[in-house]
Amino acid sequence: STLEYNELTMEHFENPRNVGVVKDGNGYGKIGEPGCGDICEITVRIENNIIEDIKFRVYGCAGAIATSSVVTEIAKGKSMDLALQLNDDDVVDYLGGLPEGKKHCSLLAIKAMQQAIYDYLLNKRLAQEGQISTRTQFDRLAEETLQEILRRAQS
Ligand code: FES
Repeated sequence: STLEYNELTMEHFENPRNVGVVKDGNGYGKIGEPGCGDICEITVRIENNIIEDIKFRVYGCAGAIATSSVVTEIAKGKSMDLALQLNDDDVVDYLGGLPEGKKHCSLLAIKAMQQAIYDYLLNKRLAQEGQISTRTQFDRLAEETLQEILRRAQS
């Protein structure tokens, strides 16, 4: 029940920040959690390595809504690198704890945000490359994008 959630979590659940879809977004991510069936979708607009705007839509529990709200609130206006360094413990700490069995909820928005940033970076590489004519060429760009994500997450 929602009664186990603390006050701050309930506040984010009842007044979630950054709900919706970013206008003129340039990155998109969507993650489903097979265990509970919850789904989180995130759109971002990134300019000069800064997350200028970020919004979410969630089909899920109160924990998923509150943590998505927190993830977008923390990431907005920050660098891509900082956003990629955000982990589930940061989100749980920010909220002052989540009920047992609800900790996985905070991973949903984090993963969706990582995917949105990946999407942005991959599209940037695709645009720089110009014409993509082979699967191998695409796979190389996808691999380079993944490496870039890992590098930024550790910077
Ligand atoms: Fe699965 Fe909340 S119960 S995301």
